[in-house]
Amino acid sequence: MPNDSAQQHAFPAHFLLGAATAAYQIEGAADEDGRGPSIWDTYSHTPGRTWNGDTGDVAADHYHRLDEDLDLMASLDLDAYRFSIAWPRVLPTGTGQVNPKGLDFYDRLVDGLLERGITPVATLYHWDLPQALEDTGGWTNRDTAHAFADYARVVGEALGDRVGIWTTLNEPWCSAYLGYGSGAHAPGRTDGAAALTAVHHLNLAHGLAIQQLRATATNDPQYSVTLNFHVLRGEGDGADEAVRRIDALANRSFTEPMLRGHYPPDLIEDTAGVTDWAFVKDGDLARIHQPLDLLGVNYYATTTVRLWDGTTPRQNNDGHKDMGGSPWPGSPQVEFLAQDGPHTAMGWNIDPDGLEELLLDLHTRFHGRPLVITENGAAFDDHLSVGADGTRAVHDPRRVDYLHRHLTAAHRALAAGVDLRGYFVWSLMDNFEWGYGYSKRFGIVHIDYDTQRRTPKDSARWFGALAATRRIPP
Ligand code: NOJ
Repeated sequence: MPNDSAQQHAFPAHFLLGAATAAYQIEGAADEDGRGPSIWDTYSHTPGRTWNGDTGDVAADHYHRLDEDLDLMASLDLDAYRFSIAWPRVLPTGTGQVNPKGLDFYDRLVDGLLERGITPVATLYHWDLPQALEDTGGWTNRDTAHAFADYARVVGEALGDRVGIWTTLNEPWCSAYLGYGSGAHAPGRTDGAAALTAVHHLNLAHGLAIQQLRATATNDPQYSVTLNFHVLRGEGDGADEAVRRIDALANRSFTEPMLRGHYPPDLIEDTAGVTDWAFVKDGDLARIHQPLDLLGVNYYATTTVRLWDGTTPRQNNDGHKDMGGSPWPGSPQVEFLAQDGPHTAMGWNIDPDGLEELLLDLHTRFHGRPLVITENGAAFDDHLSVGADGTRAVHDPRRVDYLHRHLTAAHRALAAGVDLRGYFVWSLMDNFEWGYGYSKRFGIVHIDYDTQRRTPKDSARWFGALAATRRIPP
C-alpha cells in the first residue's frame, strides 16, 4: 500500500468523482425492445474473433437491472456516471425510424441518475455502429458521419434538457485503427487506407454531432470528446522520430483537427504511400473544429517505441491483440517494445507518472484547456470469496493500489495548476472487455456472470470513501 502524504490530498467540491461503462459492454438484451444489430454483435458472433467466443448478448444484464445498478452507484456516493448510448437501440438501422423503446431506456437512466443526485455524462458513440451502416461502408463512408449527426439530433432532442456532459466519441483511435487497420476490433477490417479514411469521417462525425447537440440542448451542458492518448517513450537511435510518427497517428490525428482545425502536415506526409487524403473535402476542417468545454482523457499505461532497422523480428507489443493487420498505417518502421513491469492482467505496464506527465503536457499544449479523466483503471484476476455466513467479498489490493497511485498522480497535476475537472474509474462493474470477452475484469463491482449478482469489491468501498470524503483514503 502506498505510504505517502496522499491522506492530505483533497479534491475540490466541484471535482467530479465518478465511474464509467459502455452500452455494449454491460447492457445485454441485444435483441430486445427493437434494438438492431451492431458491428460488435456481428464481430463477436464470428468464430475466432473474441476470447472463448464471448459476446455482449447478456453481458452484465444492466438493461434489466437498471434500478439495482442506479442504487449501487448511489451507495458508492458517485458524483457522476459516464455511460454510452447504443446507437442501434435508438435507430435500429442507423438512420430513419426512431425506436421509442430504445430512447426510453436512456430516459429512465438519466432520470434515475438525477433523482439520486448523480450527474449524467453521456457518450454518443462507444463503438457499437449499427450493422446496417457498416454494410454500406461504415466509417469509410462519409454518409456515416451525416447519419451520426442525425442520431445526435434525435438523442439531443430526447435528453438535451438533462444531460450534464456530452461526449461525442469514445477513443476514435480504436474505432479507426483497430476496427479498420489491425482488425482487432469490429468490423475487423485490415486496410490502412480504410483506417485513415475512418479517422477523417470520425472527426467529421464529431464536429457535426457537436453542432446538433448544441442546437437541441435546453439546459447548459458541457461538450467534450474522449481520446486515448498514447504516452510515448522513445528508445535507441531515432527515438524522436519513432515518437513523432506514432504521436501523429495516435494523438495528433484527432487533437489537431478537433482542437486546432487542421491535420498535421507530417501525418499527411508519413501516410502518403497509403492515401492521398482526398476524402477531406472543402469546409470539413471548419466543421470538425468546434468549440469544446472539456477534453476527455483515457489513460491506462505508457508505450515504448523504437525505429526498427529490419535486422531482427519486429516487436509489436502495442498493448492490443494481433489480428493480422497493422494499426499503424504508414509507419511499418516503428516497433513497440515490451514494457517493464509491474503489469496488470492485460499485460499493460503500471506507470502513474505517465498520467501526471500527460495531464501536464495537454495543459501546456492546449493552453490550459479543461481536462477530465474519463477512464482509468485496471484488470486483475479477482477472486470472489464467500464466507461461512454467506458474506461475499472480493479483496483486490492491487486495484486499490493502482487507483490510489493514479489518483495521487492526478492530484499532483491538479496541484501544479492543470485545470482537471474530474476522474472516472473504469469501470463501475466487470464487463465484456471487447476481444478479451469476460476474461478480463476491470470493475470495482464484481459480476457473477452465472447469477448476475453484484458484489462491491474492496476497491469499490475505497473509491466510495474517496467520493464521500473527497480525500484520497489511505
Ligand atoms: C478503453 C475503452 O473505452 C473501454 O471500452 C475498455 O473496456 C477499456 N479501455 C479497457 O480496455
